[in-house]
Amino acid sequence: LAALSVSAAAWAFDLQGHRGARGLRPENTLPAFEHALSIGVDTLELDVGVTADDVVVISHDPFLNPLIARDASGQWLPGPRGPLLRELTLAQVQSFDVGRIQPGTAYAKTFETQQAVDGTRVPTLAHLFDAVKARHADAVRFNIETKTDPTQPGETVSPEAMTRRLLQVVNDAGMASRVSIQSFDWRTLQIVQQLAPAIPTVYLTVQSPGNDNTRDGTWTAGMRFADHGSAPKMVQAAGGKVWSPNQGALTEALVRQAQALGLKVIPWTVNDPAVIDRLIGWGVDGVISDYPDRVREVMARR
Ligand code: G3P
Ligand code: CA
Repeated sequence: LAALSVSAAAWAFDLQGHRGARGLRPENTLPAFEHALSIGVDTLELDVGVTADDVVVISHDPFLNPLIARDASGQWLPGPRGPLLRELTLAQVQSFDVGRIQPGTAYAKTFETQQAVDGTRVPTLAHLFDAVKARHADAVRFNIETKTDPTQPGETVSPEAMTRRLLQVVNDAGMASRVSIQSFDWRTLQIVQQLAPAIPTVYLTVQSPGNDNTRDGTWTAGMRFADHGSAPKMVQAAGGKVWSPNQGALTEALVRQAQALGLKVIPWTVNDPAVIDRLIGWGVDGVISDYPDRVREVMARR
C-alpha cells in the first residue's frame, strides 16, 4: 500500500524542465528538450516570441542574446542586446548558432554544467511539437510562456498578436489538450481564457519588496508584488488555474492558502536539491527546474 501511494503521489507531481533543461543543454533548444525527455520530465517549460514573418519561435529573450548567439562567421554578437526577433525573419534568426554560452561570461560560469551543442538553431514551436510527436512522448505537456512585456511594448508583437498566433500553432498541431500558457503579462492569459477556455492559464508572479505594480488594476506594468500575500486571491479572481511564484518568496502558508482557493502551485526556478525537497514537503503541485535530473533524484530519495 505504501508503494502504491508513493507512485500515485509521483504521478500527480508535475516536474517541469526549465527552458528544456538549461543546466544541462543549451536553453530552449531541441537538444535541451530531448535531454529533458530522456530524464523523464512531465512538462517542457519554454518561452516564445514571434518573428517578422509571423513564426512562433522558442526564445527567452525578445532579441538575439549576445550571451548565446554567434553569427555565421562564428562571431559573438556585440552586447548587451542583439536585434529584435520581431524585426528578423525566421531564416535570419536561424542563421545564428545558439548552441553554446559565450565563454568567460558570468552566465557561462553559472551554467558551467551545460554541455554545448554547436550548430544548434533557435527552434520553432511547430518543430518542437513535431519532434515530440516523432518520439511518441504522448504524455508530455508543454508550459508555454508568452514573452511580451507590458513595460517594453515596442520590443515584441502585441499581446493580442502573440497570443492569437500561439494559439493557432497549438491548434494546428492538435496540441491544445497538452499545453498550459503562462505569463507575467497577465493580459495574454485573459486572451487565452477568452479564446481557448479549456487551456489552463498559469499566472507568474515575482515578489519584489518596494516595487509593487499590482495596485492600478490594469496589469500593464508587470506582476511584481511587494508582498506575495495578496497574490493567490488575485490569481483566482483573474481566472487562473495555476499560480507560479518565484520560489524564494514562497512559504508553506502561501501554498496552503493558494491550494485552498483551488489553485495549483508550481514555483520557479528551483535548482537546489535541499529547496526542491522542502517544497515537495510543503505539497507544491510541481516545480520548474534547470536541473530536472536533480528533481528526479530528490523524488527518488523521498
Ligand atoms: O516559468 C517561469 C519562469 O520560466 C520565469 O522565468 O525568466 O526563466 O522565463 P524566466
Ligand atoms: Ca520562462
